[in-house]
Amino acid sequence: MEALDADGIGIGTDARGRVWTIRGGIPGQAVLAGGRPKGGALMSIVEAAPDAVEARCPSFGTCGGCLYQPMPRPAQQAAKEAALTTLLAPLGGGPIEVVGAADEGYGYRNRLELSFGVERFLTRADQAREKAGEVVERRGSYVGFHGAGRFDRIVDVAECSIADPALNAVLARVRADVLASPFAMWDARAHTGFWRHAGLRLGAEGVLVLLYTTTGGEAEAAWLGEAAPRWGAAAVLWYTTDRVSDAAVGDLRAVLHGEARLAVSLGGVPLRLSPLAFFQVNQSGAELLLDVIRRDLGTGGLLLDLYCGVGALGLALHAGFEAVAGIDLVEEGIAEANRNAAALGVRADYRAGRAELVLPGLLADHGVGAGREGRLAALVDPPRNGLHPDALRTLASLPADVLVYVACRPTSLARDGAALLAAGWRCTRLTMVDLFPHTAHVEVVARFERAQATLAPESG
Ligand SMILES: C[S@@+](CC[C@H](N)C(=O)[O-])C[C@H]1O[C@@H](n2cnc3c(N)ncnc32)[C@H](O)[C@@H]1O
Repeated sequence: MEALDADGIGIGTDARGRVWTIRGGIPGQAVLAGGRPKGGALMSIVEAAPDAVEARCPSFGTCGGCLYQPMPRPAQQAAKEAALTTLLAPLGGGPIEVVGAADEGYGYRNRLELSFGVERFLTRADQAREKAGEVVERRGSYVGFHGAGRFDRIVDVAECSIADPALNAVLARVRADVLASPFAMWDARAHTGFWRHAGLRLGAEGVLVLLYTTTGGEAEAAWLGEAAPRWGAAAVLWYTTDRVSDAAVGDLRAVLHGEARLAVSLGGVPLRLSPLAFFQVNQSGAELLLDVIRRDLGTGGLLLDLYCGVGALGLALHAGFEAVAGIDLVEEGIAEANRNAAALGVRADYRAGRAELVLPGLLADHGVGAGREGRLAALVDPPRNGLHPDALRTLASLPADVLVYVACRPTSLARDGAALLAAGWRCTRLTMVDLFPHTAHVEVVARFERAQATLAPESG
């Protein structure tokens, strides 16, 4: 394997000169791959990379969440940076700055979602043992993550090495109690059983446990009421669903312990969220990301926070601006943003809806493009697919002093950034924030300025 691509996937060349992309292939490794060159499957590692280190997690290679634990963190960052340098070269913006902690990149996740099940995911080694005639355990009670591509098989995990130790401590107690309970795990084929999913979130007040089960009866409710306070969690919430689809969703049945709220903070700004609200999964990484965004936006005037979620970034930055205006698709997120803005005394205008539809009206209401005086700074943090063409058109002609694009999928930034350049913006800085060590993911912040006279915004 020679490199990573811009999606964090390994690239290698075979003996016939064909280029392969292989998820989990590590630069420097020699691997045996199957399938087709584009999107090949990693079958086995023939030779480790010369700088390989021990993966810390016993489930590494099976659980599928982490791909790069055997790569030292500086090597992960260098490989991701090299891929981004090639991808984003057409934007200009100078060499890519890399921001990330210098630690080994474990213990950072503040959120985990686990599944309960009755079928164990078999590793390649298990399959080989079974083929050789050994009896390999297939059915039982398991707590963990779904095996790659399997809705019905669970990689049993006692702890997750990229999760915060506080989450693992609570997980150990929940897991032990659930496994010892008289109630069955969900059977994803037969659609029977009680235990379905567990979510764990770390907030300022401790760990929040979200348990998802089928409806259950009085015995289950009594068991849960008695067990939940023992887990060392700040709160335990119980959701029920009898839907067969495999998603951690349900109706809130009871708050078994503590209070149904998540307290977090970003940039020293306290925020109160509902238990299901989105928040960055890497707290210390999010602080680094925020510092980069703050530097790139500068201060003063109106801050436009597009794709704002619960408004965390804009609210964390509010002290540098006169007012914040934000848009997100999810109504509950906007309600949370408004509640937090009111509690913080921030002048804010948050609106729910599709940015591509809502943005022109929001701009018009703030006099943007119609004689509004003062600075305008735009922050956009779209989903992985990037900007809708209509949102991009409106932003292309936005009379903003600066536009900061936060990308969780760099290829979307490459496409949208090219359109911004064509519309008269220039990219003045590119920063890679190493927010998700050991995974294929990375966050990129691109700063754009007007390269020529401001264009008038489109009407309607
Ligand atoms: C990467 S998240 C941004 C989260 C937020 N900036 C934060 O840091 O908490 C992308 C957000 O885009 C929102 N979204 C997706 N499609 C959208 C659309 N067409 N218009 C507005 N928001 C959208 C999602 O609801 C999600 O909150």
